[in-house]
Amino acid sequence: MRLNPFAGAYLTDPAHVWRRLLDEPGRAHHDPDLGLWLITRYADVRRALSDTEDFCNALTLAPVYDVCPEAMEILARIDAPPTTAAADPPVHPRTRRALRETFANTTDRVERRYGPIVQRRVDELVSRLVARPGGPTDLVTAFTTELPLLVLLDILGVPAEDVGRVRAWADGQIALVWGCPDPAEQVRLARGLLEFWGYCQQLVRARLDGARRGEDYVSQLLAYRDGDDEVLTVAEAASIVFNLLVAGHETTAGLLAHALDRALSSPRRWRELGEDPGLIPAFLTETLRFAPAIDGWLRVTRRPVTLDGVTIPAGARCLLLIGAANRDPAVFERPEQFDPHRRDAEGHLSFGHGAHFCVGAALARLEARMALTRLAQAIPDLRLADGHRRSYKANVAFRAHLGLPVVIGATVPPGGAAALAG
Ligand code: HEM
Repeated sequence: MRLNPFAGAYLTDPAHVWRRLLDEPGRAHHDPDLGLWLITRYADVRRALSDTEDFCNALTLAPVYDVCPEAMEILARIDAPPTTAAADPPVHPRTRRALRETFANTTDRVERRYGPIVQRRVDELVSRLVARPGGPTDLVTAFTTELPLLVLLDILGVPAEDVGRVRAWADGQIALVWGCPDPAEQVRLARGLLEFWGYCQQLVRARLDGARRGEDYVSQLLAYRDGDDEVLTVAEAASIVFNLLVAGHETTAGLLAHALDRALSSPRRWRELGEDPGLIPAFLTETLRFAPAIDGWLRVTRRPVTLDGVTIPAGARCLLLIGAANRDPAVFERPEQFDPHRRDAEGHLSFGHGAHFCVGAALARLEARMALTRLAQAIPDLRLADGHRRSYKANVAFRAHLGLPVVIGATVPPGGAAALAG
C-alpha cells in the first residue's frame, strides 16, 4: 500500500484516500516510498497513540525523510531536550506535570484565564474584517492563522514586534519536519529552526534574569520550577516554550479553517450558527472528527507489534492516520457524512489519546467557539468566493488550507465596526 501525501488526490481530497486505505485488507501496511508503516483503523490508531509500552514518541518531531548533510549538521546543533510530543518516560511524566500545572487545560480554567485574551483578539480581527466589506478576502491570512498565534503570544508574553519572525519559524518547522522541502530549502529552514530555538532560550533567560518577570506563561513556568532542576531544567522550560509556539498555532488555525469551510459551505448552516450559538460546540466536535487539523501523527515501535497477522518490526516509524481512524465505519455511523448532530463524534482522535493527549484542546475549542460566534453574528452574509476549490499544503501531519477566499457582506451590526471592538 502506498500513500503520496505530497501530491495528487491527498492535497485536494484526502478523505478519498483514507477511504481507499480503510478498504484495504490488513491493518498495517509498509509504504516503501515514505519509509513508514501506515496504520488506519480506529482501534489501532488509538492503541498506538496511548500504548507507551509498544510505541514511543522519540522521533515524532524528526523529519520524515532523509535530511541532506548540510541541514543535518545545523539540526544537530539544536540541543532542545524532549519535553512534550517527543518525550517518553521517565522524562515525559515529569514535564507533562509541569505543563498540566502551568498551562490551563480544562474548560473552566481556560475560560477564566485565557477567555479575555481570546475575546479581545477575536474582536480586533473581526472588526478589521467588517471594516473592509466586499472581497474576496482570504480568511486564512486575515483570520484563521492570525488568531491562534496572537493569542498564544499574549499568553506566553512574546513581544508584539516578534509576531512575524515567530510565525515564519513555526511554519518553517512544520514544513521542515513533515513536508518535503528540497535540500536548499532544508538548509534554509534548519537555520530558521536553530534561530528559533535560540530565541526561545533567550525568552526564558530574560525572565530568569528578572528583567521581564510578570504574569505571562513563561514567568509562571519558571515560578513552578522554582530553581529546582529536578522539577524542570531551564533548558526544558525553553523547550516547552519552543514546542508550544508550534503546537498551539497551526493546529488551531487548521481547526478554524476547517470549521469555517464547513460552516460557509452551506449558507443555511452559517445563518443557523449565528442565530443559535449553542449549536457551535457540537458543530466544532464534528469538524474535529471529519477534518482534523493534524490527520497523521508519528510513533516508533519499541518492539515488534503484530496487528491482525502483520508484524511491524521493532524500531519502525509508523504514521497513524487520524483522519482515516475518525472515519472508521467500525466506530462511526455514516462516517463520510458531516453531521453536527451525530452522537458519536466525541470519540474522535484529533487531539490524540492517552498520556500525550493535547494540552491545548480546551484552548483550541474556546478560540474556535468565540471566533465562530462572533463572526457568524457580525457577518451573517459571509460566503465563500465563487469557484473556490479546497486545497492543502503538502504535509504528512498538518492539514492546512492554502486559502479560504470569502466575500464579506455589507451587513454590519448597529454601531458598526467600533461596536465590535467594544
Ligand atoms: C485544534 C487544535 C489542536 C489539535 C488538532 C492538536 C492536536 C494534538 C495532538 C494530536 C496531540 C497528541 C500528540 C501525541 O500523541 O504525540 C497534541 C499534543 C499536544 N498539544 Fe495539541 N492540538 C491542538 C491545539 C493545541 C494548542 C492550542 C496547544 C497549546 C497552546 C497545544 C499543545 C499541545 C502540546 C504541548 C502537546 C504535547 C502533549 C504531550 O506530549 O504530553 N495543542 N495536540
